[in-house]
Amino acid sequence: MALTTGFTELFGIRHPIVLAPMGGSAGGALTAAVSTGGGLGLLGSGDGERQWLRRELAILTAGTERPWGAGFLTWAVEPGAVDHVLERGARAVMFSFGDPSRLVGPVRQAGAALIIQVTGLDEARRAVDLGADVIVAQGTEAGGHGARHGRSTVSFVPLVVDLAAPTPVLAAGGIADGRGVAAALALGAAGALLGSRFQATAESLADPAATTAIVAGSGAQTERHRILDIVRGSRWPAQYTARTLPHPHLDRWRGREAELAASTRARADYNADVARGAIPPLPVWAGEAIDLITDLPPAADLVASLAAQAEVALARAGRR
Ligand SMILES: Cc1cc2nc3c(=O)[nH]c(=O)nc-3n(C[C@H](O)[C@H](O)[C@H](O)COP(=O)(O)O)c2cc1C
Repeated sequence: MALTTGFTELFGIRHPIVLAPMGGSAGGALTAAVSTGGGLGLLGSGDGERQWLRRELAILTAGTERPWGAGFLTWAVEPGAVDHVLERGARAVMFSFGDPSRLVGPVRQAGAALIIQVTGLDEARRAVDLGADVIVAQGTEAGGHGARHGRSTVSFVPLVVDLAAPTPVLAAGGIADGRGVAAALALGAAGALLGSRFQATAESLADPAATTAIVAGSGAQTERHRILDIVRGSRWPAQYTARTLPHPHLDRWRGREAELAASTRARADYNADVARGAIPPLPVWAGEAIDLITDLPPAADLVASLAAQAEVALARAGRR
């Protein structure tokens, strides 16, 4: 039994499994590996920084013949970067976090698929109105950034499925094994988009200390907050929090966001701690499902095992 869905048919791919376009982690090698493995790789293109894009797109296009795409942070990206990935052959462009209205034109003109990640029903309605080809429904279990007032994956995904039908929906947030992929399909999604699980793979660009922490860590230790964005001087808009593993500067400032934002010392202290190696260069962004992550496999093998586990889980559920 193959897990064929409206999503796999849209791209002519084997498995309804998608690499989240994680800025800094989902580079060309990881994206190519997921696509070659039969899923859909999405390059973590962030704000579209051109030097990074050029380097990683060269690795990606040399690494796979299969369909791939790129994902951008809507609030941060310059339009020229979208044209750049389309010129290099992106079959899909995904936008997350913000109003993508100004960015969809070039995607349409290139004939690529428009994927929009949403964190609430208003955003889902806007994605439908914009004519998204695929909508990603992100639950608050997700690693990395998401809505400050997000919804849980299990209750949010079916709402988006109903609202968006017949547009295919992908479930995201807290999915890290084949049972989670099966659950996404049972909720009516046409596939699953995984971030934290793919961060811990052989091809990930994440710092090895971060992937080791994910393998050792537990979802119960993760926490959503803005503290590490504020202290790093990041431009993330205030309506987004990020789920991370524990961090000394999170402990220092928890509950004191306004004071932190006004502090002139806080950022200097943070940078000094990074410079002397007392803290990692970046927060460890990780979702609630990391207890299920116990190894660092090659990503193509992971795609195959996720799909095989999902088939078993669905067959077993059907027999009960
Ligand atoms: C390390 C990390 C970085 C991320 N960066 C991005 C990003 O740049 N753009 C984006 O759309 N989503 C990003 N996300 C969120 C994912 O798109 C996705 O919603 C999330 O990973 C799903 O939850 P999971 O981590 O439990 O699989 C990131 C997630 C992680 C873990």
